[in-house]
Amino acid sequence: MKEKFYITSPIYYPSSKLTIGNCYTTIICDTIARFKKLQGKDVFYMTGTDEHGQKVFDAAKKTGKDVKQHLDDIIADTQQLWKMLDIEYDKFIRTTDEDHVCAVKKIFNTLYEKGYIYKSTYKGLYCLPCESFWTPSQLVDGKCPDCGREVVEQEEESYFFKLSEFSDKLLALYKENPKFLLPTSRVNEMVNNFIKPGLEDLCVSRTSVKWGIPVEFDKKHTIYVWIDALSNYLTGLGYLSENDENFKKYWPADLHMVGKDIVRFHAIIWPAILMALDLPLPKQIFGHGWLLLGGDKLSKSKKTETIECTDPRILVPRYSADAVRYYLLREIPFGSDGNYSTEALLNRFNSDLCNNFGNLVSRTFSMLKKYFNLEIPAVSAYDENEKQLQSKVMSERENVQRYMDEYDVSKAIASVFDIFSEANTYIQLAQPWAVAKEENGKEKLKAIMRSLLETIRIGCELLAPFMPNSAKKVLDALGVEGKEFSDFDKFEGLQEGQKIAELSILFPRLDIAKELEELSKLV
Ligand code: MSP
Repeated sequence: MKEKFYITSPIYYPSSKLTIGNCYTTIICDTIARFKKLQGKDVFYMTGTDEHGQKVFDAAKKTGKDVKQHLDDIIADTQQLWKMLDIEYDKFIRTTDEDHVCAVKKIFNTLYEKGYIYKSTYKGLYCLPCESFWTPSQLVDGKCPDCGREVVEQEEESYFFKLSEFSDKLLALYKENPKFLLPTSRVNEMVNNFIKPGLEDLCVSRTSVKWGIPVEFDKKHTIYVWIDALSNYLTGLGYLSENDENFKKYWPADLHMVGKDIVRFHAIIWPAILMALDLPLPKQIFGHGWLLLGGDKLSKSKKTETIECTDPRILVPRYSADAVRYYLLREIPFGSDGNYSTEALLNRFNSDLCNNFGNLVSRTFSMLKKYFNLEIPAVSAYDENEKQLQSKVMSERENVQRYMDEYDVSKAIASVFDIFSEANTYIQLAQPWAVAKEENGKEKLKAIMRSLLETIRIGCELLAPFMPNSAKKVLDALGVEGKEFSDFDKFEGLQEGQKIAELSILFPRLDIAKELEELSKLV
């Protein structure tokens, strides 16, 4: 039986303006999910939308549409964006789904019945855009530490979750399980900023927010959006529904991938809720860094975005989903923040996709056409140069796996591209055009071409999780079906004598100045 792997992206606030920053989380998850499949795992990847709360309600009202209709339109748009970026999820959950709503009510009831939730009065500082309460010590310059906006005093009857009871258990969890939260710097942040100063009980219901899931036993309250949202990881698997097969099969999650801004909810509140429910904890939470623009977090409302084109809906049709995926996966050192720049994206397009990968494929294919009429040659023996190339390819293959086991997508994709660079260097060294002119060069030429083709094949098998579309184009042309990782550890994956198909140019060279000028007219 295949080993299971359950991975989640955060569920997004509904917005037709999802930024390239939001796309970053989803592209990483999709890549990891695809890589795990390549490793032969039974993967379940879930994402979706987080549709309750005052902010969502107000945004919908502004459009003049019925709230549900407004949400349906936006969700269709979000799904379209994921499709555009080749995101392959197994389930798209909406927190307005009936099953989810039903299960969240039950979760809240259970927490109440078990004595983890009690009624009291909340007085506090609330950030409306972030839908978060803060203690005075958590504010930065008197403002919300997450978004920097004003907070307001609020007082209302509320239900509270006994988060304060979980400090020791959370500290023990981080200590006994050092890989629970990665990178480790995030653990220090949780411990020093939140747990050590003392966890306070968490306000988990509102009477002023109407667009939310009602508390079943006290209907004037709606359930706090983060309890609602976090529960999606369970309810999306059918937890507490008629069909909980997926829950039995996939829970606990193997990986919750989240941006660093929401680590606090995932590494403190979420495990505490699960402990209270007596459910197993997720195996790992990874808090990746932010994509910054001019030093600021890319956001749905910032004006800075008008100086650069950050809109995936413009970038993808112009440069392809693979180019955008490549840039984001490669350029941002994984776990750290990274700066977005359209110019850097275009430079990478030309240098890595066009000059390195694309050029390797087109040179190799045209030489095969010229020398062997597109037929894959059989080889009797390889020379030292070919053996060296083979061993480099194999060691990069191992590197890709090692980095992906640590979710270091940027180093992993760099290793895939090292394979292509090696092959380009090898062409210069082997000089097939000169060998073709040698009187007895035929056998040698076969060995060179076969080595290049097998290198491209292995490179593209490895590339498929990162850049699925281009990898598939090349593998299809080579007549190869995608294999599992363990099945492409040899230089003998191609069918001798079979003809490969011709390919059009994968990444046509860009005139960067011209592109930047055209883009500037679009934003
Ligand atoms: N709805 C919550 C998540 C609930 S999960 C139970 C939420 N939604 S969000 O739409 O604001 O953000 C979704 C994801 O996008 C988060 O992981 C967030 O960190 C990520 N990003 C938003 N802007 C980002 C960047 N500029 N860079 C990288 N990731 C960013 O939070």
